[in-house]
Amino acid sequence: ITDQQINSAGHLMIGGCDAVELAHQYGTPLVVYDVQQIRRQIRAFKHVFEENNVEYAVSYASKAFAAIAMYQVVAAEGGHTDVVSGGELYTAIKAGFPMANVSFHGNNKSREELEMAIDHHVGTIMIDNFHEIELLTDVLEERDVKVNVMLRITPGISAHTNKYIQTGQVDSKFGFDLQSGQADEALAKVLANPRMQMKGLHAHIGSQIFELAGFKGVAKKLVEVAAHWQEKFNYQASVINVGGGFGIRYVKDDTPLAPEEFVEAIIKAIKDEINKTNLMMPAIWIEPGRSIAGPAGYNLYTVGSRKAVPGLRPYVTVDGGMGDNIRPALYEAQYETVLASDPRANLVEHVRLAGKYCESGDILSQDQALPATKPGDVLAMLDTGAYGYSMASNYNRNPRPAVVFAEDGKAQVVIKRETYDDLIHLDEPYRQ
Ligand code: LLP
Repeated sequence: ITDQQINSAGHLMIGGCDAVELAHQYGTPLVVYDVQQIRRQIRAFKHVFEENNVEYAVSYASKAFAAIAMYQVVAAEGGHTDVVSGGELYTAIKAGFPMANVSFHGNNKSREELEMAIDHHVGTIMIDNFHEIELLTDVLEERDVKVNVMLRITPGISAHTNKYIQTGQVDSKFGFDLQSGQADEALAKVLANPRMQMKGLHAHIGSQIFELAGFKGVAKKLVEVAAHWQEKFNYQASVINVGGGFGIRYVKDDTPLAPEEFVEAIIKAIKDEINKTNLMMPAIWIEPGRSIAGPAGYNLYTVGSRKAVPGLRPYVTVDGGMGDNIRPALYEAQYETVLASDPRANLVEHVRLAGKYCESGDILSQDQALPATKPGDVLAMLDTGAYGYSMASNYNRNPRPAVVFAEDGKAQVVIKRETYDDLIHLDEPYRQ
C-alpha cells in the first residue's frame, strides 16, 4: 500500500475511490478493480515489445477474469485476448471485442464451440490435439471457409510452481507431444489442409512463475521446433507464442521479477536462438492473465464473528470465503489483507481469517496479522483480481459478489451481485 492509495480520512483508496465507502454503498463481499492498474500493466507489456522493435501481441488470458467490462478495457488498450470456452467467447462477442484479435484455446473444444468461433471469425484457433483437427476440418468444409491456426506443443519443461498449475511438463494433457513425433504429424495434417492457415506454434509452461529459466527454455524450444519444421516441411512460422505465467507478488516473501523483465528476457532468448538459424524473426505473442488482472483486484469483506481458541490464535470470520476466492483452499494460496479504514494501523494480533462457508478448509488466510477489528469493519484482501471471481461458485447457495470497476474516483458496477432469485432461476420443481 503506497501513500497515494490512502486518502485524507486515512482509508484505502482503489481507483481513487474510498474502499470503505465502496463497501457501504455496494455491500460486501465485493470485488473491486483499479482500472488504471489494468491499463498500466497492458501498456507496460506493449512498451517492452515496442522498445525492442518486435512484432507482438499481448493476449490477455481472460480465464483470469472474464466480464464484458474487462474485455472492453483490454480492447481499448489494444490488447488481444484468449478464450478457452464458448462462454468466454460469448462474453467477448457481447463486449464487441475485435474477433480478429481473439485466440481460442482448450484441450477439448466441442464441435459447437468451434462452429461458434468460425461463425464469429475468431482470429486464431490454437489447435491442441488430433481430434480437434478432425472436428475443425469438418466445420471448415461444411462452411467452405478458412481459418488461422497455431499448434500447441508440450514443451517438456516443468516450471517451478504449484503442481496443479504446471502445464508444460511432458506428462501433461495439453498440446502435441514432441518426442513421439505427434507435433510433426499434426503439422503435416494442417499444412495439407488448404482451409487451415498455419501461423505458428504455442506453448505454455505454467502459472505464477518467478524465474526466468522456464521462459528462456520454452523460447529456445519453440525456436528449435520452428527450425526443425522449416527444414523438414519448408514451413516458416510467423508467430511464436510463449503463453503466460508471469508471477506476481501476493505476500512479502514473494519475489517475482517484474513482468516486463520476463518479456525482455523472452525477446532476447528468441532473438538469440533465431540468430543461430536462417529463420526470419517471428512475431512474439504472450498470454498474461494473472499479471494483468491480479494486482488490480481487491476483495472487500465485512468482519463478523470471532472465536478464541485457548492457547492458539483466534478465528476472525468475514462474510465471504471460498465461494468468491477458492485459491487459498485449493492451492494454499496466500494473500495479504488490510483494514480498509486504516491500512497501516498497528498490527496487534495474528488470526486465522475464516470464510462463512460450511467447510473447515474455508480459511482465506491461515495466519494474518491484523490490527484490532470488530464486527462491521471492512477488510481488503489484496491482489485478488486473477482467478478469484472467475473461479467463484455458489457453494452453500451463497450469491456471488458484485464486481465494481473504479477509475479516477468514479465507480461502476460491472457485474451485479447475484440475488436469491438468481440462485433458483434455473431450478424446476419436481412433479412427483
Ligand atoms: N495461456 C494459457 C494457454 C494458459 O493455460 C494460461 C493459464 C495462461 C495463458 C495464463 O496464465 P497466467 O498468466 O494467468 O499465469 N487457476 C489457477 C491458474 C490456472 C492457469 C491456467 N492457465 C490459479 O488460480 O492459480
